[in-house]
Amino acid sequence: MEAPELLRLWVLAAVALGGSRAALPDHRVLPDDRVSSKTGAIFVHKLERELFQEAFLTGREDDGATPITFQAHLRDHPDLPRWLRYIQRDPHQSGYLYGCPTATELGTHTIEVLAYNRHTYETVAQRLIVTVIPAPGGEPPYQGEFLVGNRNVEELLPVATRNIFLQATAGVWEWDDLHIINITSALDRGGRVPLPIEGRKEGVYVKVGSWGTFSPCLVAAASPESRFRCSLGQQPLASCYDTFAPHFTIRWCNLTLVSPTCPPPHPMKHPHPLLTITPLQLQVWPNPTTPGPVWGSGVLEEGGDFQPPTDAPPQDLLPGYLVTLLVPLAVAMLLCLLLGHLMCCRREGVQKRDLETSDIQLVHHTTIHSDTEELRHMASSRDGPRPLSTLPMFNVRTGQRINPMPTPSDGARVPLLPP
Ligand SMILES: *[C@@H]1O[C@H](CO)[C@@H](O)[C@H](O)[C@H]1NC(C)=O
Ligand SMILES: *[C@@H]1O[C@H](CO)[C@@H](O)[C@H](O)[C@H]1NC(C)=O
Repeated sequence: MEAPELLRLWVLAAVALGGSRAALPDHRVLPDDRVSSKTGAIFVHKLERELFQEAFLTGREDDGATPITFQAHLRDHPDLPRWLRYIQRDPHQSGYLYGCPTATELGTHTIEVLAYNRHTYETVAQRLIVTVIPAPGGEPPYQGEFLVGNRNVEELLPVATRNIFLQATAGVWEWDDLHIINITSALDRGGRVPLPIEGRKEGVYVKVGSWGTFSPCLVAAASPESRFRCSLGQQPLASCYDTFAPHFTIRWCNLTLVSPTCPPPHPMKHPHPLLTITPLQLQVWPNPTTPGPVWGSGVLEEGGDFQPPTDAPPQDLLPGYLVTLLVPLAVAMLLCLLLGHLMCCRREGVQKRDLETSDIQLVHHTTIHSDTEELRHMASSRDGPRPLSTLPMFNVRTGQRINPMPTPSDGARVPLLPP
């Protein structure tokens, strides 16, 4: 086949391939997903890999292998709402949207989720409509925050793991109305990224709320004496059986308890009613009054219109351009001239050197030169045989030559010591 023919075929094939690609509808939209969430309780939405993978047109046969990443944002906004966070450990795992809405987030939030197939760059979109409803009883007054050392945040988000965690918490807190308020990666609280060693995890803070008071065991673990022991690097004062082990490793030194300012003491610790005045040694946190954002100088007045600055007058850039170009050029020219002058005009030459050298020295010099030349010439025409005395072994009287290296078989028969 001739070259132009080949080229034409190739171009046709490329066009056909490109056309079929462009004809594919490469963006599918899944039906909306409606969920509801209560204030003061953790909200977790799993972005199912399988759901999106089925929606991709290609790569369905090698199930499980397609890497998928997600991107989620509030509709008409670049990012997620403040209370919602997103995590996906790697493209072969499901992603999670999680967070704890507060009373200020009541209402409907439309989250747009876009899934990317990292092999084919196909995308699939889905809208997630989250309705935040107020919790019936308000916020639970007693809140304890546990630091789980041996987990990453996405490992505590599945509902099964959360239930196991709550059962374990009930073992030390002794109430059955416990629920998880918030889950936070320790990295978001100044924790360190773990070394890439098998079994090292980031750590997760889990905040659990209840309407019942803390058990004596929790109170003891958060008491000042216990904190003091922790600061000395000793074990905290934990009197109860650790029902979290072996699933979860709780860092008891990082336990924080939040309770109403005057908590009723636990009946098991103070059986006599008169003794109940003793204040508990709890770490008491007042309701956080975080200062709102402070408006800086660049913020518009309410209702004011943005007045863009007028166009800057065109500037004359020619002088600057000339200076930038001409000054280095002039310096380079100067240096060139200087070098040229040194090399051409200040050159002294052989005659001047000869004039300044004494005659006897010059004669000495030329003789050495000519002698060397002569010796070289003689060496090149040397073609007689090598003198015998320069050979390795030579008997002067007989003229016999001996191999200086005896053969190995001879050497083996000669005894080392004469008998
Ligand atoms: C949940 O945890 C995140 C991260 O620490 C924090 O920003 C958020 O305020 C918490 N939400 C509630 C309701 O405590
Ligand atoms: C746990 O608490 C100790 C001090 O009590 C602190 O130094 C450490 O950073 C905390 N760990 C994490 C992961 O926050």
